[in-house]
Amino acid sequence: MQQCLRIYGKQKTSGSIRINGAKNSAVAILPASLLTGKTVKIENLPRITDIDRLIEILSALGAKISFLTETSLEIDLSGVNSYSPPPELVNQLRASYYLMGSLLGRFKKVNILMPGGCDLGPRPIDQHIKGFTALGADVELDKGVMKLRAKKLKGAHIYLDIVSVGATINIMLAAVLAEGKTVIENVAKEPEIVDVANFLNAMGAKIRGAGTDVIKIQGVKELGSAEHIVIPDRIEAGTFLIAAAATGGEVLVKDIIPKHLDAIIAKLKEVGVSLDIGLDWARVKSSGCLKPSDVKTFPYPGFPTDLQPHMMVLLTRSRGTSLITENVFERRFRHIDELKKMGARIKLEGRSAIIEGGHELTGARLEAMDLRGGASFIIAALISNGETEIRGVEHIDRGYEKIEERFRLLGVNIERFCEP
Ligand code: UD1
Repeated sequence: MQQCLRIYGKQKTSGSIRINGAKNSAVAILPASLLTGKTVKIENLPRITDIDRLIEILSALGAKISFLTETSLEIDLSGVNSYSPPPELVNQLRASYYLMGSLLGRFKKVNILMPGGCDLGPRPIDQHIKGFTALGADVELDKGVMKLRAKKLKGAHIYLDIVSVGATINIMLAAVLAEGKTVIENVAKEPEIVDVANFLNAMGAKIRGAGTDVIKIQGVKELGSAEHIVIPDRIEAGTFLIAAAATGGEVLVKDIIPKHLDAIIAKLKEVGVSLDIGLDWARVKSSGCLKPSDVKTFPYPGFPTDLQPHMMVLLTRSRGTSLITENVFERRFRHIDELKKMGARIKLEGRSAIIEGGHELTGARLEAMDLRGGASFIIAALISNGETEIRGVEHIDRGYEKIEERFRLLGVNIERFCEP
């Protein structure tokens, strides 16, 4: 059965919404827990399908997981005895690559299928491998299965050629139990990396510098118990801010860390959206009458690639021509063909999309092909004339918790249905 959404056009979002825990933190924190043999408690987990899959993977490896509330759980890791996560689960999410670093750290060996996830063009993991190798692991690829083996892991000096969120976290995971000191340079600085480092440190790791260009890790012999609250999801927050900006609504987005949204807030202000920012909230108010803009995606603190599709939809509303340059994933533009079905005037030139704004969109039958692109179609549907149906909602469910219920909270008429 295929999950679909039906959305009626010309609707404003209005009201208030509380933001869930960050997907990209949570998908690393669950694998990170494998580094201890004790019990950990994790709160503010988003209930998305990527997390459901990771829970199944951890259980298959021998962890005992009990939910304390809808969004918090306790994991007893004393029974973990396998270093081969089930391939049929691993291939369902990109973040399963974090099992490489954590299982390598814990067992000094891993057998794992190459990760699945969104197709955003080539997504190599050479920098992850470079880090594992530097720490002393041998790497062999056998029919799509990656085998990592190390007699022992030894701290090393690693310089990343590319700023990568995944490689930064994965090498950090592998290094916390290595002998001696590891220095990783040219690392990514995303808030989710800081969150994972805080969780590891709460378990007894010695990590300094997360959130800067250089991370230093003093290896420790073992990790203990910890309790951790996952940070709010800045991409989910950005999604609702942009939705309100595009639909001309007024929305209060609560339980956020506004600092993490600096690039998004700045861009929204630039195009003419009015925003009030509080300690842990942002109120967005938009007339829907917007100015064009140039947007360039970059690693944090730059404008996040994960909100590039949403921003593209927003810019179809502005009067004039806008430019979006995608600097993180060279082929993250699959949403453009779908938006064109709605009448959007967007031209792709290399890594840049030229958006001729100010033309009405019309409802259409769309296919979500990746998580964030799929979510941006909901915003496109809300500003269009007529009815839109989105298929492939499974992609959206990987990263947004009950997306239709969330939009309904903001007064939107949206239905989920299944199709064979
Ligand atoms: C993570 C996020 C994803 C986000 C992306 C960029 C998770 C689970 N996913 O993905 O939502 O869109 O960061 O903010 O946190 N690269 C290499 N070699 C490597 C690793 C990466 O060439 O070994 C390249 C990638 O192809 C890409 C760029 O580096 O062009 C950045 O990728 P990276 O930061 O690693 O993204 P992910 O960790 O996959």
